[in-house]
Amino acid sequence: MASLKSKKLKSIPAEITVPGDKSISHRSAMFAGLAKGTTVIDGFLPSEDCLCTVHAMVALGATMEPLEEVEGVGLVKLAITGNGMKLKAPEKPVDCGNSGTTIRLISGILAGQDFKTELFGDASLSKRPMKRVADPLSQMGAKISGQGEKICAPLTIEGGPLKSIYYKLPVASAQVKSAILLAGLQAPGKTTVVEPVATRNHTERLFTHFGIKWLREDDCVSVYGGQEPKANDIVVPGDISSAAFWMVAAAATPGAQITIKNVGLNPTRTGIITVLLRMGALVTSSETHTEGEPRGNITVRGGDLNATVIGGAEIPNVIDELPILAVAAALARGKTLIRDASELRVKETDRIAAVVSNLRLMGVTVTEHPDGMEIEGGAKLQGATLPCYGDHRIAMAFLVAGLFAEGTTTLEGTECISTSYPGFERHLDLFLNGDAGARPIPVMSTVPQPLVDKMNRDKA
Ligand code: S3P
Repeated sequence: MASLKSKKLKSIPAEITVPGDKSISHRSAMFAGLAKGTTVIDGFLPSEDCLCTVHAMVALGATMEPLEEVEGVGLVKLAITGNGMKLKAPEKPVDCGNSGTTIRLISGILAGQDFKTELFGDASLSKRPMKRVADPLSQMGAKISGQGEKICAPLTIEGGPLKSIYYKLPVASAQVKSAILLAGLQAPGKTTVVEPVATRNHTERLFTHFGIKWLREDDCVSVYGGQEPKANDIVVPGDISSAAFWMVAAAATPGAQITIKNVGLNPTRTGIITVLLRMGALVTSSETHTEGEPRGNITVRGGDLNATVIGGAEIPNVIDELPILAVAAALARGKTLIRDASELRVKETDRIAAVVSNLRLMGVTVTEHPDGMEIEGGAKLQGATLPCYGDHRIAMAFLVAGLFAEGTTTLEGTECISTSYPGFERHLDLFLNGDAGARPIPVMSTVPQPLVDKMNRDKA
């Protein structure tokens, strides 16, 4: 089992560039694989989750050509060639690894295909509820079976002719919305999803990028069936959910300043900026690119943070940032309340239980609630040996907490970080060791043959 250590931070780097956005990388690979022709994806996030999506699309008939690799990070530029919406039956069950986005969105794609597929994942993914996608996709005409009441993976999806639906989401989930819209592309007529609260809209923005017409009316998103994505090269911005770790590290360090370059600024994802501003950090963002997925630079200046309340409609916007925001709350003055966030209990681990337990092990007073927690800020954090619970965001949030703790903080099981942030350790090093950690990152123009073989392994 891998472990990583953290200790009091040495300095905050002036600038950092984080790897590509996970949600956009997943969707780019899927849409490229559904389009006829070749799409070059630059700025791709080569995390295990997104590579699962690439493997899945290759298993379903697309081809992948690796174009550029960054040492210590992975494949950041690739070309995917699809054959249109009619996919090929995979030769074996498709491995979705740890990735909820892969299994849920691919379920929507497979719902309209005329073959049967098995989708499986790791132990964590196999515990997560898939009923939320199985229900609407079954209503549309797919036959979906899974394990137990929550319809967990392994899932069997028997696709076929679909009918469009008007579906009110019982939980605010971009993954479920996207699965239904992807199935809707394959159903005659108009498929509408009603969102109880707005969630990230990357699928909709990528629909536009790939030439698919869709519409938003109030809280409804609709798409008409019978459309096929058109191949169109894309450049993925940096992931604000990865930037969040360094934004909090700077925000909690009075006098510090960091600029995160070329990061996604989609308003359905920038809730972290709003929350940090409310807590007293000085955060500015400057958009350098407004089309498609807006992107630009975020600058954070640290100060004394104050407690806040995080809840209601802003929760989907900060859902993946709540573990690191809980760490920010522990470093702030006063009591922070996180509420309306019971969705955290069905992420890669139960993130409410994991955050509460790890904060307590570091000496913070926390009250656990069914839908969140109350954190008493201002205590001196104590270094501790902590579990990651196999969850990348728990691992990274507590390594950042360790930058503010007395002594050493050890996170055990840190291999999970590669789920979303290859190269995290190198970036953490910049905070632990200052410039000594700033090793140049070479770009290679060719990709080693074993990787090419591995990526195309299901194609033959
Ligand atoms: C994601 C949506 C969110 C988020 C996940 C990625 C996506 O999940 O937590 O990390 O790419 O659509 P839900 O939509 O299930 O809330």
